[in-house]
Amino acid sequence: MKNPTIAQKVRYKVPFGTVSITPEARTLINRALATKMVTNGRYVREFEERFAKTFGVKYAVAVSSGTDADALACAVLYDHGAARGDEIIIPSFTFVATANAVLQAGFTPVFVDVKLETLNIDPDRIEAVITPRTRAIMPVHLMGKSAEMDKIMAIAKKHKLFVIEDAAEAHGAVYKGKRIGAIGDLAAFSLYAAHIVTTIEGGMIITNNAATYEALRSLRNHGMVGKFTYQRIGFSAKMNELEAAVGIGALKIFKRILSTRHRNMLYLIKAFERFDEFFLPFKEEAYEKLGPHAFPITLRQGVGFTKDQFAQYLDKNGVDSRNLFYSIPTQCPSYAFLGHRLGDFPNSEYLSDHGIHIGVHQDLGVPELKHVVQVVERFLRNIK
Ligand SMILES: Cc1ncc(COP(=O)(O)O)c(C=O)c1O
Repeated sequence: MKNPTIAQKVRYKVPFGTVSITPEARTLINRALATKMVTNGRYVREFEERFAKTFGVKYAVAVSSGTDADALACAVLYDHGAARGDEIIIPSFTFVATANAVLQAGFTPVFVDVKLETLNIDPDRIEAVITPRTRAIMPVHLMGKSAEMDKIMAIAKKHKLFVIEDAAEAHGAVYKGKRIGAIGDLAAFSLYAAHIVTTIEGGMIITNNAATYEALRSLRNHGMVGKFTYQRIGFSAKMNELEAAVGIGALKIFKRILSTRHRNMLYLIKAFERFDEFFLPFKEEAYEKLGPHAFPITLRQGVGFTKDQFAQYLDKNGVDSRNLFYSIPTQCPSYAFLGHRLGDFPNSEYLSDHGIHIGVHQDLGVPELKHVVQVVERFLRNIK
């Protein structure tokens, strides 16, 4: 089913995403409505403080989307001597928002291919694309799996580059004992509906640096400093009180959501071991803890079926799925202007041609996951 209607979507036994709006959030929403002060106010500040505490950093700045979070994080570089058109290194395989945000902030995205087994930027290919105009590396922790931060931080240190973590899909992930989002200079989260902490639409940037925090607050509000002094080229990216109320409620149940998603992710990782001849493995390594966004399924070469056939079968049997992104520079027509050619980012292109992802969210229990495994088993039996 290409474009299911809402009525058709609710028939999914295993839907892709979900939003948990807690009773506390509903109370706060009503209180905010009653005050008639629903723009950026006390709930936004409370949400920021709680978010910073949850993620183990000093500061958090709430914005209107994860894309804005990425863009503002990039725009901070102007406070550090960057010029328009300077370069930011990002993975070629990610949601298009990462690259769009770099451009929206006035920089040039420079793409690096990913590894098939991690879906994340290949650190061994980064140094080859560093130029005198490179200002930052922006790794993405796709599907809640950490990028290889040790190597990335070492490269950044050697070349004096900023590290901006795109943690849109990795709330609660841990890498070698460190919380994702608290490793780089700053990190951007999406709080969109299907994400672990959600405000329905929204984003958050976190940092330990006081000057960066002030710059982000200014950038979120048209670049304003004090009263109507416009010091930076800013954005209009404020969060409102109703969204913050949903976020405060979401943080209260964050640990529970995270642990349910983690259980679901590990269940599927383990269950899919029996399908190893058909799909590439996706793992949680001993040194990390996944912050599960969704479960990726990538077909191995020569399995005798296409990802569309597989996704259609899942769909017919009540399992909703999404494409596993694309190689932005070579498979997104909007990026043709950069002049890359198909074949330049082979791993990203492979993942796009052969990958999908399915939900592991908190409203799924073991019966739904068992259903997924049974459906996959039946599909594979039929094609043998
Ligand atoms: C990796 C990545 N970066 C950025 C974003 C942008 O977030 P938003 O949709 O909230 O703008 C997303 C959205 O899911 C994402 O997956």
